[in-house]
Amino acid sequence: MTVQTAGRRMRRGVEIQDRIGSSRKEDTAARALEGLLGSDKHISSEFFYDRHGSRIFEEITRLPEYYLNRTEKELIAEAGIRFADGLCGADIVELGSGDSSKISIFLGRASRGARASARYLPVDIDRSAIERSARDLKQNYPELRIYGIAADFSGGLEALPPPERRRVFCFFGSTLGNLLRPAALELVRRIAGSMREGDEFLLGLDMVKEKSILERAYNDGAGVTRRFNRNILKVVNALAGTGFDPAKFRHLAFYNKREARIEMYLEAREQMTVSTPLLKDDIIIREEERIHTENSHKFTKRHIEEISSYAGLDIAGIFTDKRKWFSLLWLKKKALK
Ligand code: AVJ
Repeated sequence: MTVQTAGRRMRRGVEIQDRIGSSRKEDTAARALEGLLGSDKHISSEFFYDRHGSRIFEEITRLPEYYLNRTEKELIAEAGIRFADGLCGADIVELGSGDSSKISIFLGRASRGARASARYLPVDIDRSAIERSARDLKQNYPELRIYGIAADFSGGLEALPPPERRRVFCFFGSTLGNLLRPAALELVRRIAGSMREGDEFLLGLDMVKEKSILERAYNDGAGVTRRFNRNILKVVNALAGTGFDPAKFRHLAFYNKREARIEMYLEAREQMTVSTPLLKDDIIIREEERIHTENSHKFTKRHIEEISSYAGLDIAGIFTDKRKWFSLLWLKKKALK
């Protein structure tokens, strides 16, 4: 497979490489439909993040119940005091960068000179999120060079420029938790594989805690998470011409204690038949059948140790809040002996 990686110039000091727009829409649609054909219906959580979905997620981050974002930002501010000078001359690679509001906290702690010598490389599945965040960051930090990559995590890692500079990887928001445990381990190992001695990695993880607190964060009173969950059907409709009516689905989110994860589903209120020009057979959904849309794994100290040792990274520090609800790991590439 060949991927077009032509960079498109947006404004001075901002470039975005698009590895999404260049893949065929039908291929993406086929991937989305794949999980809807058998029993055990599912849609990959990547499909949450179209232009609209990214914005709804940003709304989630401001909800009183969604402690994740607020807690992590406090930790980033705290870590930034010790860390900001390390950004000097570095390539800062942020996976799942979204609105870039977290890196902005770090950048705010660094000197102008440090920022001018660094490059920021946001990787996000939603190109529009990169465009918006680049605009915002440039307003505050005009000296910063931004080299965005619209891609999934794997594509993003492949598209990185050669490691001529020190690299600081950032993977915030507990987004790693969207992956199944083995895939999460592999991804961190891959990231570590593209680090050289002395490179650093900041990894934000949501910790295991009381079920009621977790479930409240994914069942907010204002119904924003429900809107976010249902929006995935609109994304599939736009890609595959399916006529899903999101209102015909209930939002379900509950904690699976055995797997230590929040699971999110859309549950059909009634039986329905959905067709798409891309498939000859209809998609049939029974009343009360569930479409699995997201796993959000939670972590323990044990997981943290497992992840870092599997990846061959040293834990240079762990920032956590007093309730230990969230952890920001500061990992370093071990010196080769
Ligand atoms: C962006 C994957 C970290 O799992 O908490 C928020 C997404 N889903 N509410 C999370 C999400 C429902 C979020 N991550």
